[in-house]
Amino acid sequence: MTFPQMRPRRLRENAVLRDMLSENRLAKSDLIYPMFVKEGLSGSEPISSMPGQFRWGLDALPDRVAEVSRCGVQAVIIFGIPQHKDEEGSQAYAEDGIVQQAMRIIKKDMPEMLIIGDVCLCEYTSHGHCGMVSGRRILNDPTLELLSAAAVSQARAGADLIAPSDMMDGRIAAIRHALDSAGFDHLPIMSYAAKYASSYYGPFREAAGSAPGFGDRRSYQMNPANSDEALREVRLDVEEGADIVMVKPALAYLDIVRRVKDRFTMPVAAYAVSGEYAMIEAAAANGWIDRRRTIMETLLSIRRAGADLILTYHAPEAAVWLDE
Ligand code: PBG
Ligand code: ZN
Repeated sequence: MTFPQMRPRRLRENAVLRDMLSENRLAKSDLIYPMFVKEGLSGSEPISSMPGQFRWGLDALPDRVAEVSRCGVQAVIIFGIPQHKDEEGSQAYAEDGIVQQAMRIIKKDMPEMLIIGDVCLCEYTSHGHCGMVSGRRILNDPTLELLSAAAVSQARAGADLIAPSDMMDGRIAAIRHALDSAGFDHLPIMSYAAKYASSYYGPFREAAGSAPGFGDRRSYQMNPANSDEALREVRLDVEEGADIVMVKPALAYLDIVRRVKDRFTMPVAAYAVSGEYAMIEAAAANGWIDRRRTIMETLLSIRRAGADLILTYHAPEAAVWLDE
């Protein structure tokens, strides 16, 4: 059938029908909110390249998490900013590290909030790399032990889901083994499986003070030119025991989200990263785009690409809008 018998506009005229025929929907339960916790800070301080986002001190954290929960967001992922950094990133796996303290506080106050632990070293190392370094090389296998220790310490602190973001080879198997051995075989892993070496992480690195002190992350994070390689990365992580696989960033990599969703029958997460947030906020602040509609359209596009879960700095606001 073709025009004039077939008229696609017939289904677009009535608002109720448009709504009924929506193929994809965003839900509050899709959203994960990333939060920065800073050791030694009292109250909060704004992150200049992410207007509307803050670093939180332990004293201010419970109120903010409660507010996020009241917005309808059920999950947070916690990033730590330690007072002391060293070569081995020891605060990443310290029993009383800033993230471990934050988790204990949240768990005690709000046991129903799902706590996700980002496992990496870059926020904790003096050189800012995600692994141990020797000269200018980022060492793989020696790093696995440290990541495993970080994962177990977060599990002990109350993490409900472990999310390794380092991109070392073999880390999922190592962390899975370490968690199992420590009595946490029930804790799932959400792996940053296809994480690209992206310029969109700029504002995050300012927020967390985690920019590499020398070189860049291209020897461990993926080349933006590659798509098949993402499927190989995901396959490895699934075979090593990942329960949820993540693609990161989201917007510039929606084709990867779709390929991963189609190929693997796995829950897929996508991370709308700091630079994606900053772009929307900057354009909106200038009055160049409709802020709310752009945020919701962007989140919906990530869902449509195949993501089950979306990590987004817009989570609390989006959750409120979804309720309206
Ligand atoms: C650290 C990490 C990064 C992000 C999440 N975990 C940055 C990086 O790889 O430098 C980026 C998140 C964002 O940009 O919002 N491994
Ligand atoms: Zn890192």
